[in-house]
Amino acid sequence: MRKVAVLTSGGDAPGMNACIANLFTQASRLGFELLGVKRGYQGLIENDIFVMTKEHIENIYNLGGSFIKSARSKEFTTNEGMKKAVDNLKKNDIEALVVIGGNGSYRGAKDLVEQGIKVIALPGTIDNDLNYSTKSLGFDTAVSNSVEAIDKIKETMSTNSRGVVIEVMGRNSGDIALYSAVAATADVVVLKEVPETKFRVVEGVKRAISRGVDSPTIIVSENILDVEKLAKTLETETKKTFKTTVLGYIQRGGNPTVFDRHYAMELAVKSLDLIDKKIYNKAVGRKNGRINVVDLKEVLTEKTNFNFQLYELFDRLNG
Ligand code: F6P
Repeated sequence: MRKVAVLTSGGDAPGMNACIANLFTQASRLGFELLGVKRGYQGLIENDIFVMTKEHIENIYNLGGSFIKSARSKEFTTNEGMKKAVDNLKKNDIEALVVIGGNGSYRGAKDLVEQGIKVIALPGTIDNDLNYSTKSLGFDTAVSNSVEAIDKIKETMSTNSRGVVIEVMGRNSGDIALYSAVAATADVVVLKEVPETKFRVVEGVKRAISRGVDSPTIIVSENILDVEKLAKTLETETKKTFKTTVLGYIQRGGNPTVFDRHYAMELAVKSLDLIDKKIYNKAVGRKNGRINVVDLKEVLTEKTNFNFQLYELFDRLNG
């Protein structure tokens, strides 16, 4: 029987469980055995691998997180770690490995390919930081979670005529910040992709106040600036009270949106199509609203597909 394994690596993303459940269903249809690798690459190193059954995947499609668990493995970046992982894949007679993860996970997937392992990589990360795919699995849910939280924060800020600086996740990608800012009608957004946004916050907030905004909302992508310091500066400059919230992990948990559930199914079926046809070392993703497949080696570690058009429209509205 042909064997395929799946692992989830890095920060988990809503939709991973749905993707695994669909992989199981399609693998069974095509006559493959699906193995689950626990805790990402670390589980490969420790041979923490199990045969998946129908019981494992029952009623998990709508849950956030990953039931096979995820991890960031330092050991996997060492030669010894890599050797153990490759040996275990061979020992278990695994024909191909499906890796669901973000940037770091793709680096690991490429390293495995160099060692002769056959891989299919799927974009599972809330950060949306993969250059070849316009959307990653989990991003839509994370933005939805973030917007829901921002809406609530805005309600209470507005009642008390306060401004607020809200930090969202994304590591080095500003997508959660930008998409949330647009959806929650924020006044100012701070993004790494548009470096000047960091220096134009005060100006932007003053402009919003002069337009009659009573409770300015500033969305800041993480790892750019200190939100507490920014709130203090804004208080001094505008004589208004500014509060802060770091949204944190609330963005990463919870039930996947309908979009992410559909996407999870598309990614799963497409990956098994490829493996069934013995086509390997591909990254499956999304382009122009449709599933697309590229060579894994073409996937850069730098994000190159930031939606500048959306930012420019937001800037025209608020600038
Ligand atoms: O990559 C997903 C992500 O949630 C990033 O947005 C964030 O910077 C990071 O993971 C947090 O990592 P950890 O879960 O290790 O704290």
